[in-house]
Amino acid sequence: MKVNKAEFIISNSDVKKCPAEILPEYAFIGRSNVGKSSLINMLTGRKALAKVSGKPGKTQLINHFKINDNWFLVDLPGYGYAKVSKSTKGIFQKFITEYFEKREQLVCGFVLIDVRLEPQKIDVEFMSYLGNAGVPFCIIFTKADKLTKSKAMQNIAAYKKVLLAGDWEEFPTYFLTSSASGEGQDEVLQFINDVNTD
Ligand code: GTP
Ligand code: MG
Repeated sequence: MKVNKAEFIISNSDVKKCPAEILPEYAFIGRSNVGKSSLINMLTGRKALAKVSGKPGKTQLINHFKINDNWFLVDLPGYGYAKVSKSTKGIFQKFITEYFEKREQLVCGFVLIDVRLEPQKIDVEFMSYLGNAGVPFCIIFTKADKLTKSKAMQNIAAYKKVLLAGDWEEFPTYFLTSSASGEGQDEVLQFINDVNTD
């Protein structure tokens, strides 16, 4: 799939105010600073569609982008960042869990994981939460440019081991990406295209 059109629609913290239009929707979630906003820019081939920052906690709202006039891409705030003010902290912000539980248009979530790290408790917990809530999701390992392919595959294998030792019977569909090199762009867009045309 080629992204010919990518437009920002609305930001908000209230699921009820998300666009009413019924289009298939894909949401990007993960720890603060994992690279959600960068990945959205990379996938759409736009430099600054979503706001990127070296400081964790940049994205604070649910951001809807309409792609090719026929699906929504959603940039979400990160979880697991302690400096978010006490009132909004929670373990996973309430409006994020509400988004996943109530947004009927949501077709699939993408849980982003920094491929350099060993399995993190909070990511495993978030995936369990999605699984228990019946939300379909894939994993996107980010920042592949920061380490060798063999090290990346080793770290992905460590994740598989942890998930399969827990409640999971199979490892979710996953992608290895880099917003710096564009690695994984075709694969993720192809996946979305295939799901949309099924
Ligand atoms: P929050 O909105 O704060 O939750 O962060 P985010 O997950 O949206 O991360 P963001 O895209 O803002 O990126 C965080 C930092 O990581 C920025 O400094 C990016 O330039 C950097 N970054 C993101 N993706 C990549 C990548 O694939 N490779 C490299 N080398 N750096 C990346
Ligand atoms: Mg962001």
